[in-house]
Amino acid sequence: ATVYPFYDDHQAGIVTPAQDRLHFASFDVADISRDDLVGLLQDWADAAALMTAGTPAGRYGAVNGPYDAPPDDTGEALGLPASGLTLTFGFGPSLFTSADGTDRFGLASQRPEALVDLPHFPADALVETLTGGDLCIQACSEDPQVAVHAIRNLSRIAFGRAALRWSQLGFGRTSSTSTAQQTPRNLFGFKDGTANIKAEDRTTVDAQVWAQPGDGPSWMDGGSYLVARKIRMTIETWDRTSLREQEAVIGRTKGEGAPYSGGTEFTAPDFSATGQGGKPLIAADSHVRLAHPDQNSGAQLLRRGYNFVDGNDDLGRLNAGLFFIAYQRDPRTQFIPIQENLAKNDAMNEYVRHVGSGIWAIPPGARTGSFPGASLF
Ligand code: HEM
Repeated sequence: ATVYPFYDDHQAGIVTPAQDRLHFASFDVADISRDDLVGLLQDWADAAALMTAGTPAGRYGAVNGPYDAPPDDTGEALGLPASGLTLTFGFGPSLFTSADGTDRFGLASQRPEALVDLPHFPADALVETLTGGDLCIQACSEDPQVAVHAIRNLSRIAFGRAALRWSQLGFGRTSSTSTAQQTPRNLFGFKDGTANIKAEDRTTVDAQVWAQPGDGPSWMDGGSYLVARKIRMTIETWDRTSLREQEAVIGRTKGEGAPYSGGTEFTAPDFSATGQGGKPLIAADSHVRLAHPDQNSGAQLLRRGYNFVDGNDDLGRLNAGLFFIAYQRDPRTQFIPIQENLAKNDAMNEYVRHVGSGIWAIPPGARTGSFPGASLF
């Protein structure tokens, strides 16, 4: 049974190997004091340390407390192992600067410049109820029951202090974050995560994922920035599209996942390779060309997204897609320019719609007994 330590230099759930299940939750903080906010974050961390170790939340757990009080833990994870649970906590822009411009927790001067409000991208179709949030928690596990149990108990602990704003379940990872992992597939049926940043590449992780001393306020040193996008796929349209078109859109083969310029899955793409009539083998509007660091001033992302199917809509179409999660050192030079490039030019746009969005500062890991982001307060 895999257990990832909760107290560490960096928060778990970023470069730790992507698990197969997700429950992501965004919260808004109630009208409480700064001390109560600190109390909430401390209570969350205490419960997170227990649950990630495979133990029930609270002093008495699910069944050992006073008979006439609600149990400290809701119980549905009793008997289940830790299942690689990671709980990753983040602070949204609205925690620092409220919509009405007030500085309710006295944190405005500590807001990192990199924690920007995301711009409106071309063709964004964002649904207000799937965007933003003062706080976020990413729960990942090998067992969906364990991930859901964690978010449920953290929501319960927050009662009266913070309330769930929106949340998302994911059932299959769409990325690898370790060279030891097999590349999974997204709901377009393509391998996803081939060219992702891998934990073993320490140089790239330091350059592209962790905020470094001097980047911004020191409470973020060793932290990262999370951008989430709920991307609906119009899979019925995709499923009526030829294999040729599908591969051209991605720029890779569907079976092997090799770049269209040749080779096998991990062969580097050759964007200058041309075929009949001098046309580039990897099309100018293909996803892989437009997202590649060569097209984006060297910028990369650590992708850690999940497949989702939220039932179906009233036209009988699956409400399915990819819950995109990316970690980075600075969204101003990473997610934003890459997404601007994709939103304008990507052939994939015909088959996707961005409906949810959020950005959070992910502080470094907690010292034993403390909570992630404690040095902000
Ligand atoms: C690569 C699918 C959205 C950034 C890829 C690959 C696939 C893929 C199949 C090639 C395999 C790989 O290297 O992982 C998708 C799908 C999306 C989506 C289905 C939406 C439903 C996005 C978004 C971004 C992004 C929103 C960032 C703004 C990247 C990057 C690469 C990549 C940086 C690696 C490019 C390289 O270095 O070769 N994506 N993607 N993707 N994607 Fe996406």
